[in-house]
Amino acid sequence: MAARFRPESPRDRLMVALDVASTTAAESLVERLGDTVGFYKVGMQLAFAGGLALVPALVSAGKRVFLDMKLLDIDNTVASGVKSIEAMGVALTTIHAYPKAMRAAASARGAQSGLGLLAVTVLTSLDDRDLAEAGYAATARDLVSRRAADARAAGMDGIVCSAQEAASVRAVVGPDMLIVTPGIRPAGAAADDQKRVMSAADAIAAGADCLVVGRPIVAAPDPEAAARAMLAEIGAACGGR
Ligand code: C5P
Repeated sequence: MAARFRPESPRDRLMVALDVASTTAAESLVERLGDTVGFYKVGMQLAFAGGLALVPALVSAGKRVFLDMKLLDIDNTVASGVKSIEAMGVALTTIHAYPKAMRAAASARGAQSGLGLLAVTVLTSLDDRDLAEAGYAATARDLVSRRAADARAAGMDGIVCSAQEAASVRAVVGPDMLIVTPGIRPAGAAADDQKRVMSAADAIAAGADCLVVGRPIVAAPDPEAAARAMLAEIGAACGGR
């Protein structure tokens, strides 16, 4: 069985979101980041610009890939999507935390599969007002906790949530599930469209296992220096683990 991903070093904990407009831009960013970064997240911007073709190249270059497809569809379509993703050799992918979709994803994956499944609870760009606008009566915090419990019951390997909820999610899911947090911003940096943000050190201290970082690295004048600074912050916060 291919072992499912568990972080073993600060470098394993930093997932850089390749949120760029072309495969050429992604390739040059990966080259600039060199050995500093070992884990990349491929999301819809790059995937819809031909970036899925880059995934096998990243995998064979020894990089881990988190294919952030945020699947949500009828059970059969989610299950077939997961099977196709499994064949790509990526370490992680995402499913929106609807119980039926998560169960379909978990049962589609082979028992020996190395593909880890993460449940997206509530996007970090949403606050309570945005949820009310979308017809939800729950607060973001309560909905995240409820969806984390559903994800555990459905057989997911981890949770995507804001670092602000990492401690409450840990209390719900226990020590074994991965907690992956986007919405990471260096202290004093612009939040952009993110609403539930935290610094890397605070996120690790709150119980996050891995951090997804896009613009603070991708749009930095020197992305490699920004990644190194983030790694140093992660390393100090988790005692080098
Ligand atoms: O640029 P920034 O650091 O805000 O990028 C965050 C990345 O994490 C984006 O690729 C976004 O799609 C992703 N993400 C998120 N919130 C979630 C799940 C994924 O921001 N709940």
